[in-house]
Amino acid sequence: MKRQIIIDCDPGLDDAVALLAAFGAADLDVLALTTVAGNVKGPQTALNAQIIRGVAGRGGEVPVCAGAPLPILRDQVTAEDFHGSTGLGNIDFPAPNAPLSDEHGVNALIRLCRAATTNPLTLVITGPMTNLALALVMAPDIKDAIAEIVLMGGADREGGNITPFSEFNVFADPHAAAAVFGCGLPIRALSLDVTHGIRTTKTRLAKVRAVGNRQALAVGDLLDASCKLEFSANTDRDAPLHDPSTVIAVTRPDLFEGRRAHVSVVTESGEQLGRTRVRFAEDGPVLWYESADADGVFDELCRLLEGY
Ligand code: RIB
Ligand code: CA
Repeated sequence: MKRQIIIDCDPGLDDAVALLAAFGAADLDVLALTTVAGNVKGPQTALNAQIIRGVAGRGGEVPVCAGAPLPILRDQVTAEDFHGSTGLGNIDFPAPNAPLSDEHGVNALIRLCRAATTNPLTLVITGPMTNLALALVMAPDIKDAIAEIVLMGGADREGGNITPFSEFNVFADPHAAAAVFGCGLPIRALSLDVTHGIRTTKTRLAKVRAVGNRQALAVGDLLDASCKLEFSANTDRDAPLHDPSTVIAVTRPDLFEGRRAHVSVVTESGEQLGRTRVRFAEDGPVLWYESADADGVFDELCRLLEGY
């Protein structure tokens, strides 16, 4: 039986790669894409999800539902420096070939979870966690239908990427992240502690392009744009593979290693806003990944892209 997943995302160059990987996975059933404001503003992340759904050839099947356009409490922050003004590196993709759903992303999360109680689903989150936090407040019963959450967010050993302490997805909505990390559901967290060790080198990028189909060439363009923007925004040319690593942690968990932990989030304003505090403990609900087989991750990305 295929594993049912929902991807909650803020496309975003690396979110787009994660979506193309997931749509190529033979053993994943993507029920819906729910979008959230993050890398760029809400309407743009929804449009980008529609565009990438079209590149994957899934236009008529998989709904794209726009979720929260703002964080729960703090002021909005975006990340155009790392994703370009369009959020897709200003790459010229074809316009969407299917409409945006008129269902709000939070309502879609609740509806799909309530329909999944006999076959609990996996929730993959690659942006600020606003939508799930709101869904858990509106419908706490959905916890019974979520087998696990696999998310990209947070930083401990590595320090932050948007402030010295905080990773962007958590920083963009720290109150939502606190609610999700504290909800008690099983979580596998791909923080900067692990994604900074999975770099898009020229050799790995060439392997992706060598897959040769339309989706792999699009991923090559997305990763190349990531590397260029990462270099201009920071110093490192080899962009970390943040969001795609969540999908690969679903299909190949054996490629990752970590420890169980309790994770809390600094929500007080100040220089540490959005910092994740990690307390390693055997009874922790969060598996906090700390390392990965980076070559294995890129080989799995290629395998998923060969699935088209
Ligand atoms: O810190 C990296 C995360 O922030 C990724 O999800 C990227 O897409 C941005 O949302
Ligand atoms: Ca993202």
